[in-house]
Amino acid sequence: MIPAVKGTRDILPREVSYWQHVENTARSVCERYGYVELRTPLIEREELFTKGTGVSTDIVQKEMYTFIDKGSERVTLRPEATPGMVRAFVEHGLEQTLVIPKLYCLGPMFRYERPQKGRYRQFHQLNVEVFGVKDPAIDAELIEMASRLIQELGIEPADLIINSVGCPTCRPVFSKALMVALRDDVENLCGDCQRRMQTNPLRILDCKNPSDQTIIDRLPHPVDFLCGACLEHFEAVKHCLHTYDLSYRVSHRLVRGLDYYTRTTFEILNSSLGAQNALLGGGRYDGLIKLLGGPSRAGIGFAAGLERLVLALPGKEIDVEGPDVFVVAIGDEAREATLVLVRDLRQAGLRVQIDYDGRTVKSQMKRADRLRARKAVILGSDELARNEVRIRDMTNGDQFSIPREQVIKALCESRESVGGTDS
Ligand code: HAM
Repeated sequence: MIPAVKGTRDILPREVSYWQHVENTARSVCERYGYVELRTPLIEREELFTKGTGVSTDIVQKEMYTFIDKGSERVTLRPEATPGMVRAFVEHGLEQTLVIPKLYCLGPMFRYERPQKGRYRQFHQLNVEVFGVKDPAIDAELIEMASRLIQELGIEPADLIINSVGCPTCRPVFSKALMVALRDDVENLCGDCQRRMQTNPLRILDCKNPSDQTIIDRLPHPVDFLCGACLEHFEAVKHCLHTYDLSYRVSHRLVRGLDYYTRTTFEILNSSLGAQNALLGGGRYDGLIKLLGGPSRAGIGFAAGLERLVLALPGKEIDVEGPDVFVVAIGDEAREATLVLVRDLRQAGLRVQIDYDGRTVKSQMKRADRLRARKAVILGSDELARNEVRIRDMTNGDQFSIPREQVIKALCESRESVGGTDS
């Protein structure tokens, strides 16, 4: 047996209904908030991420699946969707066709990380982005939408944290203050943070290394260094969150692991997930679209990890529905007659299962039961001779015979009466 690649997982049929529930809820929430779907390729040019995600990030430094293809091009399996969505927005001039570009994307991402509960090398995200809106009301609307998604999935309690990381005007002032505060501690920081001192000191605040924590706790906070415009923006976002009656906490260490963020950052955490407790995270990136060759436009978005949403789903008792009908054929002649009957029932919109290997009636009925079929349709030589079929209600065992030509109508009506839908 050749096992699956480390850090990847099969989503087995018994789990798929949870995934569909999460995906359907995500689509429904996105559509209510005015988002349209965008699907981008899983592979992109490597430079999209070195430039977009940022050279100093862990993603670019350590986690990308990059290879040289047969045409000598360096391509990368997307580790995140934001740069690809920005690329598509710019490449197709979506600004011209979408009045308010609000886009969502569902699909797999790839990061070479150490696998653990809630962290995989191939994982899936719902990614949501808005382009060209500077108004802090969109920051708050996006956070409210993210909370709504979590709430509609019944995941609770969720901890909403926010922060502001400033802009190219005020961030250098804060970075300088960080360097000053760290002057006597450089030697005591972990190797990664010593590297971050050179590349992006802000990211030291995000370090999880236990030995660095006491040093980090003493560091200044980004919000105390915001310029007037960034402070005003942050206050307006908080004001809108109050208006929505959303509880949140300002986390001074929430700088996020990607280089493009400006101003607002946010995450929603869930304590049941263990170490990998972020259900979703995002923020504003007002310089990214220009950096990737587009017009100077603001941007903001978030991504939620679908594995984590599925892990945090309460109860997991979404019922897997059985077929509407299991057709039982007795004898070769009947088996041939069922071919057309099964085809016609399916054409009429019913979900129909049938047995294939010529088993006894008893074992076919057992299968119908195990599949949790609502009705069994039984066809043997007696029924054939009378041009009838027998219908058995699998929930209470009641049986009756009806003319063959009435069977489709009868089964469709009985499905409607139990609230079935077309699938
Ligand atoms: P991120 O924080 O890297 O942000 O990922 C967002 C979410 O994806 C995380 O909160 C987590 O739920 C999930 N996730 C990340 N890595 C893994 C993994 N290895 N295994 C399982 N789940 C994972 C971004 O990706 C940004 N592009 C979000 C964004 C969109 N910012 C603005 N727009």
